[in-house]
Amino acid sequence: MEVNKPVKALILGYGIRGRAYASYASTHPRDFEIAGLADPVAEFPAGAKYPTWKSWEEAINAGVEADAVIISLPDRMHHKACLMALEKGYHILLEKPIGCTWQECKDIVEAQKKAKRLVLTGYVLRFAPFYKKLREVISSGVIGELTSVHHLAAISYGKAAHAYCRGNWSVEAKGTGMLVNKCTHDFDLIEWWTKGKVCKKVTSFGSLFHWRPENSPEGAADRCQDCPQSVREGCPFDAYKLYYDRTDLRYHFADESDEAILKMIETSPYGRCVYACGNDSVDHQTVLMDYDGGLTIILEMESYSQQRTRVTHFYGTRGEIIADERKIEILPFVGDSTTIIPAQNGHHGGGDREIMTEFVKLVRSASPDRYTKILEAALESHRIAFLAEESRYSGKTMDCVTGKPC
Ligand SMILES: NC(=O)c1ccc[n+]([C@@H]2O[C@H](COP(=O)([O-])OP(=O)(O)OC[C@H]3O[C@@H](n4cnc5c(N)ncnc54)[C@H](O)[C@@H]3O)[C@@H](O)[C@H]2O)c1
Repeated sequence: MEVNKPVKALILGYGIRGRAYASYASTHPRDFEIAGLADPVAEFPAGAKYPTWKSWEEAINAGVEADAVIISLPDRMHHKACLMALEKGYHILLEKPIGCTWQECKDIVEAQKKAKRLVLTGYVLRFAPFYKKLREVISSGVIGELTSVHHLAAISYGKAAHAYCRGNWSVEAKGTGMLVNKCTHDFDLIEWWTKGKVCKKVTSFGSLFHWRPENSPEGAADRCQDCPQSVREGCPFDAYKLYYDRTDLRYHFADESDEAILKMIETSPYGRCVYACGNDSVDHQTVLMDYDGGLTIILEMESYSQQRTRVTHFYGTRGEIIADERKIEILPFVGDSTTIIPAQNGHHGGGDREIMTEFVKLVRSASPDRYTKILEAALESHRIAFLAEESRYSGKTMDCVTGKPC
């Protein structure tokens, strides 16, 4: 494609992620243009000059001139939409997870190799200035060789109740488990931090500890609006507390006004009692990884945290690094400690914007060999995540080389 023309893309799924990527067209009109939007329920921007459709299939079959598609659909639609988009010759920005099973992921890699198009996974954190800086610090060797890493993905009780108890990812069979949905990001970061090292074994434990019917407070109703005030008062997961009193979760809804939020609580799944959601997703999970050379890594995914953040503690033969998505503390055994606070602006610490910049650059670069390498690198995070899930289900440690229990 001509490098001075904007990359034109169809956006399939105009929910939170679709809207985030679409906004790049207004901030970077020379680089990116919307060729059309597809969503069955979303309100599309008024006065848009591009076509809109009710389903992704219609959009992809419409024959509209476009270089790429952005797949920001629910997880279970990624596989089919991605295969069809590759068949049509589009470049793709594919939200994670790549597929809902390991087989689906492998199908996409095969199709990508045939089509020779870009499939960039929505690993926005890799592009965020904070994480780029952190990787630079680790790679500098300032703490010597890594011996172990303790990584906490703290979801926060409000966000976890929203997504993994009441929302899209509450029932594992409808998409992927919480670990694959949430922590493929974290596995990807780990893969990036440990570049060149091979994970040999993985084992995992986790469960749905709390959001179960038997933990429902006495007298609680199935929806918050019907729940007695005395019960709601003591409930941290009360939908009025999470969505009406607080405003930080409102970005999940297209209309964030007080009136719309009250209506949403009364009518949508997000107004259900957390103990009556029919959910089976885990609410916490731990993964232990054993790397060649002796490096060991612990990943902890936790719903019941006050803050929504990631905290990583790196231990090396010459010192420690502690990173918490705001600051990077470097604590060498010899010499002075330093703290770096990388500048961040925008959603996902600027990662949403930076991934779009990279996507445009990659589409314009027309480099098929590189495209395959990019997808294969993203696949590693999924491979380990699916093996960790197999370990949780089977209670066995998995051999990452053979893909079988040890
Ligand atoms: N990279 C990240 O950090 C990140 C963060 C959140 C979510 N995600 C991923 O992004 C994807 C979308 O998540 P979201 O939070 O935007 O969810 P969302 O529910 O806000 O958006 C999904 C949209 O797809 C639409 N949709 C459903 N069926 C459709 C169809 N047949 N055709 C067209 N559109 C259809 C829905 O109406 C909805 O608007 C998920 O796969 C999720 O895992 C990635």
